[in-house]
Amino acid sequence: MRVTVTAGDPLTAEADLLVLGSWEEEPPAPPVADLIEPGDWSGKAKQTLLIYPRGVIPARRVLLIGLGKRSSPDIDLLREVAAIATQRARDVKVERFACALPVVPEHTSETVAAALTEGSLLGNYRFLEYKTDIKPEERRDIDELTLITLPDAAEEAMRGVARGGAIARGVNLARDLANLPPNVLTPAQLAERARELAIAFDLPVTILGPAEMREQGFGGILAVGQGSANEPRFIVIEYGAHDTDAPTICLVGKGMTFDSGGISIKPAENMDAMKMDMSGAAAVLGALHAIAELRLPLHVVALIGAAENMPGASAYRPGDILKTLSGKTIEVLNTDAEGRIVLADALTYAQRYNPAAIIDLATLTGAIGVALGPHAIGLFANDDILAQRLLRAGEAAGERAWQLPLWQPYREMVKSEIADVRNAAGRQGGAITAAAFLNAFVGDYPWAHLDIASTAWTDSKPKAYQPKGATGVGVRLLVQALRNWTE
Ligand code: BES
Ligand code: MN
Ligand code: ZN
Repeated sequence: MRVTVTAGDPLTAEADLLVLGSWEEEPPAPPVADLIEPGDWSGKAKQTLLIYPRGVIPARRVLLIGLGKRSSPDIDLLREVAAIATQRARDVKVERFACALPVVPEHTSETVAAALTEGSLLGNYRFLEYKTDIKPEERRDIDELTLITLPDAAEEAMRGVARGGAIARGVNLARDLANLPPNVLTPAQLAERARELAIAFDLPVTILGPAEMREQGFGGILAVGQGSANEPRFIVIEYGAHDTDAPTICLVGKGMTFDSGGISIKPAENMDAMKMDMSGAAAVLGALHAIAELRLPLHVVALIGAAENMPGASAYRPGDILKTLSGKTIEVLNTDAEGRIVLADALTYAQRYNPAAIIDLATLTGAIGVALGPHAIGLFANDDILAQRLLRAGEAAGERAWQLPLWQPYREMVKSEIADVRNAAGRQGGAITAAAFLNAFVGDYPWAHLDIASTAWTDSKPKAYQPKGATGVGVRLLVQALRNWTE
């Protein structure tokens, strides 16, 4: 679906479907008012009413949609409204539809257009690759959404469309990757997808296989991957390397294409969900896609440790002691705490770039779901300024994060008697001890860890722009944070 902008009067627009937002405080004016029974319409948030104007205005259908109170406008509601409208447009099988850009108090036309574009493209997302049993007309996508603006807002709106579009395409890429089944998206395949992304934007990419990793000493990733026939990969994509003045940000993603738990095997129930254990990697690639499309003036290095955690004959075991890329040793107490081991090597590698910040994203612990549930990303950091940046970005982007502590006593909890650190420290404070473990591998670089285990997947449909399955969480927060960095 393309999104375009045109300046004009929505009420004179020729459209198969025209979407008109309506505030609670301002009932529709004529001629729209004449087409409805006033009692049928309140303008309450997300209320919809499909109207057939029959020549009263040129549009063949009008979808009235409630924007709620104009006195307390809500950007996330605009995303939802756009998603609802897009899904209705799909239901009535139009090829293109138009939407009047509302004038929203306290927000620029750019912000409003970005939110509508984002919501529409996110709400239009479906994962149909493996559905052979649906009819072609149901598979058909809408061709175009046209945002109709006041003449002086068109240029701003176009910038918003470019931004919202780039972000949504990044999120949808991340969703696709995380929705793919683990027999298809193996570590090698994840690396191939990363390579395709790099080629599309002409970015340098490095993919290390087991032999190269062995040579260089990636003892963590190799151990986690050694129980699977699908060999691990280490993926590096660099964006903006030529810009020597730009700050370097390393984005590190956990790319477990399937996490069975290994020898410390998980229960059978819901194990299939562990195909999404590469959602951190997916978010990093989605964010990179958006950053490249937006040409942000930054140096961004994407680093992904990709492996499959399986209980094969050569699997690593509880009791093993691993030597990581950093030289530090890990005592393995539970092979299901594999993400932190993979990240240990990736975080060590990140330090080569002398980065201004390292940000990792990982579906790291079930415990973060116990702490925060599905409505917040867990944030941990060794640097308050970086933490604040990410908290603010999450708020603005509609992906909230909440910070948890990393005090010294937690770091004591991951020390080992016979190695430098141990990879499990009991149930208490599980998300924090996982982060404390990572902390041991970042040196003195400003670092933040986003635990997205409880937010990367949804079995409900919490928002109109969020279908069931992979959420693509993290992309919007990252892009917002990196955009702010350039200001
Ligand atoms: N990938 C899981 C965490 C996870 C749980 C992600 C639920 C998404 C949904 C991770 O590798 C894991 O297994 N963590 C263990 C750690 C424990 C063994 C210390 C956990 O959370 O139980
Ligand atoms: Mn695990
Ligand atoms: Zn895992």
